[in-house]
Amino acid sequence: MDFRSDTVTRPSPEMRRAMAEAVVGDDVLGDDPTVKELEAAFAERVGKEAAMFVPSGTMANVCAILAHCRPGDEAVMEEGTHSFRYEGGAAARLGGIQVWTFVRKNGVPEIEDFRTRVRNGRDPHQPRTALFIVENTHNLAGGRVVPKERVDAIAEFAHERGIKLHVDGARLFNAEAASGRTAAELVEKADSVMCCLSKGLGAPVGSLLAGEGDFIQEARRARKALGGGMRQSGILAAAGLIALREGPAALAADHTRAKKLAETLAGLSGFVIDPAEVETNMVYVGLDGLSGPAVVEACGARGLLVLAVREDLLRFVLHRDIDDEGLERACEILREIAADPSLKTGTDAGRGASTNDDATWEPS
Ligand SMILES: Cc1ncc(COP(=O)(O)O)c(C=O)c1O
Repeated sequence: MDFRSDTVTRPSPEMRRAMAEAVVGDDVLGDDPTVKELEAAFAERVGKEAAMFVPSGTMANVCAILAHCRPGDEAVMEEGTHSFRYEGGAAARLGGIQVWTFVRKNGVPEIEDFRTRVRNGRDPHQPRTALFIVENTHNLAGGRVVPKERVDAIAEFAHERGIKLHVDGARLFNAEAASGRTAAELVEKADSVMCCLSKGLGAPVGSLLAGEGDFIQEARRARKALGGGMRQSGILAAAGLIALREGPAALAADHTRAKKLAETLAGLSGFVIDPAEVETNMVYVGLDGLSGPAVVEACGARGLLVLAVREDLLRFVLHRDIDDEGLERACEILREIAADPSLKTGTDAGRGASTNDDATWEPS
């Protein structure tokens, strides 16, 4: 029972079959019909003109940043955003782009957060603000959904100031399942959106970036420069097509199980969580008088894999490879752990269910 991340999902037998039988060509030459089909299907699903298949979510975000910005430009985003925290400093390292962050622990940015950081006047002292990034759902904020109205308002404000909005929708379809808004509605006003096929949707590899045709053309140049031009990648796209077709509808069940897990944890001594804060497939739980690494070890010894985000904070992620039976077994193990006096540290309280600070861990 692997609750560390939704990236651990394995391709289904149907995906493996489709991969074996995929019709392929050289995608760098534009010849792979399966990749083209996937790109067109994604573009249509998110209501954009064009899309590009890339090996990872990180590469999708980096291509977006490189295509939207010039060296010396500035990109503004929340401090827990993947592009700031976990992309190896790619914006600065590869694009000469400066990042300016703000803190919004619930993951839902206010217009004010951006307004106070726009620097696109004529003053030569200042960089030019070229890009805002919004993560939806916001991983470090507990898998929180940024509502469509907020994304729209940020996009409108950005456009008034000549700035682009990119949505890191690694888990955009979780946002769709939780919000009742379609993925296309959620990114209607955004200039670009990326989504991972290799997380809750279940594909083994691959992400997609969508936007206007010219933007995707520029993003293809960035992908090539990053070494992300793949040849017979229809083998991967074949699994991606199944993930895109069948994955989104299955995500609501993960959210229901996440809620059940949160409710179970809320009733256990030593675990601190408000189930009302669990909106999608992520369950962050604080620890009170329990040590994160000790709990992770005790869980692991019983076949339950979880992540200690910090000494006093654990993360559980629900996904398609955990069914009701797996969830029930995990809950039993957690009841045993809560009742085990040898795991109590007697230290002070955990800091609560959501995290967006001090993360020194690998978040995927
Ligand atoms: C919000 C978010 N964006 C981007 C990524 C990057 O995806 P990948 O691991 O495919 O590079 C991840 C996952 O790690 C993520 O959680």
